[in-house]
Amino acid sequence: MITGGNRGVGLELVRVFHENGHTVFPVVKRKESLVSLNEMFTDRCHPVLTDISKDEGIAEITSQFSFYANHLDIVINNAGIPGQTYEIEKVSTQELMDLYNIHCLGVVRTVQATLTYLRKSSNPRIINLSSRLGSLSKMSSGEFAKGKFSYSYRIAKAAQNMLTLCLNQELEDIPISVTAIHPGKLQTSSGAYVLI
Ligand SMILES: NC(=O)c1ccc[n+]([C@@H]2O[C@H](COP(=O)([O-])OP(=O)(O)OC[C@H]3O[C@@H](n4cnc5c(N)ncnc54)[C@H](OP(=O)(O)O)[C@@H]3O)[C@@H](O)[C@H]2O)c1
Repeated sequence: MITGGNRGVGLELVRVFHENGHTVFPVVKRKESLVSLNEMFTDRCHPVLTDISKDEGIAEITSQFSFYANHLDIVINNAGIPGQTYEIEKVSTQELMDLYNIHCLGVVRTVQATLTYLRKSSNPRIINLSSRLGSLSKMSSGEFAKGKFSYSYRIAKAAQNMLTLCLNQELEDIPISVTAIHPGKLQTSSGAYVLI
């Protein structure tokens, strides 16, 4: 299962897993994305239509997934949105909440929706698409140029990193491996955005 599987990194992940013979469940928030994925891929691709920024997404993911399968090997939490502002006097609390809602709470919702099915896999994994910009040690070492990166994105990814560690600790006895990865700067619509 790959959230945000209709474009950018998510779509490429869907393509690679599908090409390698796996059954894929791209989670998408727009009907058009569901239609285009169904046109692009075979019947081993089952798009799940939901908005992971809303709590209703939990039940929507569970019900659509369970129609096709009874276990899940990998969840890749990839969906995200870029930040806008990088000065404390300009950043809105709404922007801060919106990014936290997707990058951190979106992962909480997806995990809550799928844990029952991950438990039934012989080698389950959760992989969160993080960013170097969420690293407290990189930030404190002065690696990022002053004034260049959004407050909301850095804070949301730092929160997601803590969630990754908490999940890994809680789920290690099952065991479910939970990992954060930084994909590098990529030429997607978010990556091209100067303030990611
Ligand atoms: N690109 C980079 O250089 C870079 C670097 C470091 C980390 N990352 C991280 O890697 C991940 C993917 O980045 P990307 O560059 O591929 O992003 P992208 O091209 O902007 O794609 C973002 C994806 O997330 C989906 N999405 C956003 N909000 C959603 C919601 N509420 N519910 C469901 N899906 C939602 C989008 O769907 P719609 O098409 O419907 O909007 C889209 O499919 C992100 O978490 C990003 O922070 C990227």
